[in-house]
Amino acid sequence: MSELEKPKMMAYARHMLVCVGPRCTEDGQSQKLFESLGEKFKQAGLNKGDLRVKRTRTHCFATCKSGPVLCVQPDGIWYYNVTPANLDRIIQQHLVGGEPVEELIYHRQEPACAHG
Ligand code: FES
Repeated sequence: MSELEKPKMMAYARHMLVCVGPRCTEDGQSQKLFESLGEKFKQAGLNKGDLRVKRTRTHCFATCKSGPVLCVQPDGIWYYNVTPANLDRIIQQHLVGGEPVEELIYHRQEPACAHG
């Protein structure tokens, strides 16, 4: 019996999940946004090193309004209305600068706190 090969993953600082489902945007808008990430991350220096951001498509967050919508983990920040210009703001201000773009946030998931 052959052994299963364990998947490999590079280290990353943040993980961006982009919904490319059919209900929060129309006309493949979010898919195009997702496809632009590779080049934009490279230009911002987010494709390697300490600030590396992993990117993944998802198919629905069940918050199907005012897309494109995406979330940034482990920060627990969920963004809506992510136009290309707003994506640039999120990249520069949040992913590079560490400051979430407050006016584009529609949900914030605080980390669970340990009760002793
Ligand atoms: S289809 Fe995008 S959140 Fe549901």
